[in-house]
Amino acid sequence: MLPWDVFMIFLLGSSALGEILMSASEVSRNYDFVIVGGACVVSFCALRLTCTILLMIPLGGTAGNVIANRLTEDPDIRVLVVESGGLNEDVLELQVPFLMPQIPIKYTWNFTTIPQVGLEGRSVIYNRGHILGGSSSINGMVYTRGSAEDYDLIANISGDEGWSWDRLQHYVKKHERWSSPVNNSLHLFRPEVHGFRGMTSVTLSKTRHSIDDRMLKATEESSEFPFNTDYNSGQPLGFGWAQSTITSSGRRDSSATSYLGARFIRRANLHVLLNHRVLRLLPAPSGPGVHFNAVEYGEIVDVSSRQIVVAAKEIILSAGSVGTPHILLHSGIGDDSTLSALGIKTTHHLPSVGQNFTEQPITIVQWPVDDNNTTDQFTRNATLMAEFLDEWKFNRSGPLTSSTTTHLGYLRLPGNSTVFDIVADPSAGVNTPHIELSFSNGFIFPVPTGGGLGVILFLVTPMSRGSISLNTSDPLDQPLIDPALLMHEFDRFALREAIRLALRFVASPGWEDYILEPSGSLSSLDISDDGQLDAFLRASVLAGFHSVGSASMSPRGARWGVTDPDLRLKGVRGIRVVDASVIPHIPSAHTQTAVYIIAERAADLIKESWGTR
Ligand SMILES: Cc1cc2nc3c(=O)[nH]c(=O)nc-3n(C[C@H](O)[C@H](O)[C@H](O)COP(=O)(O)OP(=O)(O)OC[C@H]3O[C@@H](n4cnc5c(N)ncnc54)[C@H](O)[C@@H]3O)c2cc1C
Ligand SMILES: *[C@@H]1O[C@H](CO)[C@@H](O)[C@H](O)[C@H]1NC(C)=O
Ligand SMILES: *[C@@H]1O[C@H](CO)[C@@H](O)[C@H](O)[C@H]1NC(C)=O
Ligand SMILES: *[C@@H]1O[C@H](CO)[C@@H](O)[C@H](O)[C@H]1NC(C)=O
Ligand SMILES: *[C@@H]1O[C@H](CO)[C@@H](O)[C@H](O)[C@H]1NC(C)=O
Ligand SMILES: *[C@@H]1O[C@H](CO)[C@@H](O)[C@H](O)[C@H]1NC(C)=O
Ligand SMILES: *[C@@H]1O[C@H](CO)[C@@H](O)[C@H](O)[C@H]1NC(C)=O
Ligand SMILES: *[C@@H]1O[C@H](CO)[C@@H](O)[C@H](O)[C@H]1NC(C)=O
Ligand SMILES: *[C@@H]1O[C@H](CO)[C@@H](O)[C@H](O)[C@H]1NC(C)=O
Ligand SMILES: *[C@@H]1O[C@H](CO)[C@@H](O)[C@H](O)[C@H]1NC(C)=O
Ligand SMILES: *[C@@H]1O[C@H](CO)[C@@H](O)[C@H](O)[C@H]1NC(C)=O
Repeated sequence: MLPWDVFMIFLLGSSALGEILMSASEVSRNYDFVIVGGACVVSFCALRLTCTILLMIPLGGTAGNVIANRLTEDPDIRVLVVESGGLNEDVLELQVPFLMPQIPIKYTWNFTTIPQVGLEGRSVIYNRGHILGGSSSINGMVYTRGSAEDYDLIANISGDEGWSWDRLQHYVKKHERWSSPVNNSLHLFRPEVHGFRGMTSVTLSKTRHSIDDRMLKATEESSEFPFNTDYNSGQPLGFGWAQSTITSSGRRDSSATSYLGARFIRRANLHVLLNHRVLRLLPAPSGPGVHFNAVEYGEIVDVSSRQIVVAAKEIILSAGSVGTPHILLHSGIGDDSTLSALGIKTTHHLPSVGQNFTEQPITIVQWPVDDNNTTDQFTRNATLMAEFLDEWKFNRSGPLTSSTTTHLGYLRLPGNSTVFDIVADPSAGVNTPHIELSFSNGFIFPVPTGGGLGVILFLVTPMSRGSISLNTSDPLDQPLIDPALLMHEFDRFALREAIRLALRFVASPGWEDYILEPSGSLSSLDISDDGQLDAFLRASVLAGFHSVGSASMSPRGARWGVTDPDLRLKGVRGIRVVDASVIPHIPSAHTQTAVYIIAERAADLIKESWGTR
C-alpha cells in the first residue's frame, strides 16, 4: 500500500464526485486524477511540503459534518473529513427510528467507564457513534434545545454575547427543518419558534399512542405538572409532545443524512475519508509560537501504516466529548506533569484538557398498565414486528416511523428543597428544569407479559464533574472515561426527588385505572426512605450520553479552559475545537441540538476569520 495516496484521492478525486472511498484498493484505481488537483500530502517519514491549497479537517460526527458542509459552500475551500467509523448507509437500524435500541455495538466505540465510585464500583456502558454522522447516527433523536437561560449562561461563562439564546436564533433556524406531517388536535407545536428551511428534519410523532389523552388529562388536572405546547421555545418547563430529528417520511435524520446528504457530498472540494483513525495532531516544525498544522492518522484495520496530512489553514477537531480530549492529550496538549508521567512529550501545557467532563445521570422506572396496545405488543412479537418493518420499508408508515420517546416532561426542584441549604442552584435560572422525564409507551426493560409505561429520569443539571484521561501512551487504547456519576450530593438528592416526582405524576388523576401497580419497578422500596432510594440509584444509574465540557471554552485570557470563545485552542495556532466538548455548561436537555447550533455558529466564525464565503 502506498502510504500517502489514500489521502490524495479524497482531496482531489474530482471525477469521483459523490463517491466515498474506504479502502486502499479503491484508492490505487483512482491514483491518476489524484495528481491532477495537486494534492499536498507527505508520508510519515518524508519531508513536509507546504500546501498551496486550503484545507481544513473536521471529523465526521454531529458537529464535524456541519462544519464540512458550511465551509465547502465556498468552492475555493478544500475540506477533508477523516472519520474512524464507516458509512451510515444501508443499515436498517440506523434508519428506522424505533429500532434505535437495537443498533449493533459495531456502530459504536463500545466504550465503558472506569469503575464508578458513586455506583458501588460499577462500570457502565459509554456509547458514542463510530460511524459517519457520529453520535447523531445512533442517538435517540430527541430534539431539545434546553432553556434560553442555558445559552445566556454559556454567553456569560465565555464572555461572548454571541452564544446567548437571542443571538443564536439565526443558527437554530439555519439548522432546523421542521417537517411535521401531523396537525391534529393533540400534536401541536408553536410554529414561530421553529425553522422550516434548515438542514436537519424535526417532526412530531406520526403515531397516536394510547397514553396521549391521559398525558393531556394529567397535565390539565395538576398545577405541579403543567402542559407545555412546545418545550423548544426557550421556556421548557412542563409536559409536552416529543419532537425528534426524523424526516416527514419516518426516517432518522443525522448530520450524515442532512449535512452530508447527496447534494453536498457531491461537492468537488469535499472529501470524506472513512475507516481512518486520527492518532495525533502534530506541530509545524518551526516558526514563531506553537503552530499545529498536521494530522497523523492510520487505517483502522492496520494503523501501522500511518500517514500525515497538512492543513494549510486550520485543523478542526470534532471528535466529540471523549475523542477530542483523547486526541489532544496524545498530541501532548494537556497537563505537563500528567503527560510526562505517561511518557508523552508535552507540546503545549494546557491543564484543563479532559477536565470538567460533565454528564447527566439517568435512572429508569416503569409500571405495568391496563392496556394491551402498548409498543410491548410488537417488541415482544417477532411476527408483528416483521409486519411493521415491512410497512416501514414499503409505505414509510406505521409505529416504527417514531422513536421510542413519546412525551417529555421538564420540572424544577422546589425552591425550598433542603439541598439548596448546602449548594447553590446549579440550574441556569428559574425557567430551567433540573429533571427530565422521558416517556415510552411500553416497558423500557422488557417484561414477559402485559403492557407498560416507561420513564427515563434524567438529571439535566448535574454538579458532579468527571474527566477524560489517558491510561497509556498508545493512541489506540481506550481513554479512561470517568463521568463521576452520583459523586455530588446534589445529584443524589435531585435523582431521589425525580423518582418521587415520577411516582406522584403517575398517581395523579389522569392515570387512574391505567397504572396497575403504583410503585411499578420500585415496589419493593419505601419511597420516603432516602437510604433505600440511594441504594436503588447506586444499583441502577446509567450515563445519559449527553456529556460536554471536556475541552471547554472560557473567556479569552482565562487561566482555565481549553478554547477561547471563538473555539480556537488557547495558546497555539492552527487548531479549533467544534463539538460537545467545548460547551462550558451542560444544557438542561439532550445535547445534539446544542451541538448542531454551536457548530453552525462556529462555521461562521471560521469563515469570518479567513474571509471565506
Ligand atoms: C446512545 C446515544 C443516545 C443519544 N440520544 C440523544 C437524543 O435523543 N437527543 C439528543 O439531543 N442527544 C442525544 N445524544 C447526545 C448527542 O447525540 C451528542 O451530544 C452529539 O451527537 C455529540 O456530537 P459531537 O459532534 O460532539 O460528537 P459525535 O457526534 O460523537 O462525533 C464525534 C465523531 O468523531 C469520530 N472520532 C472520534 N475520535 C476519532 C479519531 N481518533 N479518529 C477519527 N474519528 C474519530 C467519531 O467516530 C464520531 O463520528 C445521544 C448520544 C448517544 C451516544
Ligand atoms: C465490546 O467490549 C466488550 C468488553 O468491554 C467486549 O467483550 C465485546 O466483545 C466488545 N464488542 C464488540 C462488538 O466489539
Ligand atoms: C455574568 O453574570 C454575572 C452575574 O450576573 C455578572 O456579574 C457578570 O458581569 C456577567 N459576565 C458577563 C461577561 O456577562
Ligand atoms: C393546524 O391546526 C391549527 C389549529 O387547528 C390551524 O390553525 C392551522 O391552520 C393548521 N395548519 C395546517 C397546516 O393545517
Ligand atoms: C393500537 O394503537 C394504534 C396506535 O395508536 C392504533 O392505531 C390502533 O387502532 C390501536 N389498536 C387497538 C386494538 O386499539
Ligand atoms: C472547570 O470549570 C470551572 C467553571 O465552570 C472553572 O472555574 C474551573 O477552573 C474548571 N476546571 C478546570 C480544571 O478546567
Ligand atoms: C389485555 O389482555 C388480557 C389477556 O388477554 C386481558 O385479560 C385484558 O382484559 C386486556 N386488557 C385490555 C385493557 O384490553
Ligand atoms: C403476534 O402477531 C401476529 C400478527 O399480528 C398475531 O397473529 C399473533 O397472534 C401474535 N402473537 C401473540 C402471541 O400475540
Ligand atoms: C402499504 O399500503 C397499502 C395501501 O394502504 C397496503 O395495501 C399495503 O398492505 C401496505 N404494505 C405494507 C407492507 O404494509
Ligand atoms: C416547601 O414548600 C411547600 C409548599 O409551600 C411545602 O409543602 C413543603 O413542605 C416545603 N418543603 C420544605 C422542605 O420545606
Ligand atoms: C489500562 O491499561 C492497563 C495496562 O495496559 C490494562 O490492564 C487496563 O485494562 C487498562 N484499563 C482500562 C480501563 O482500559
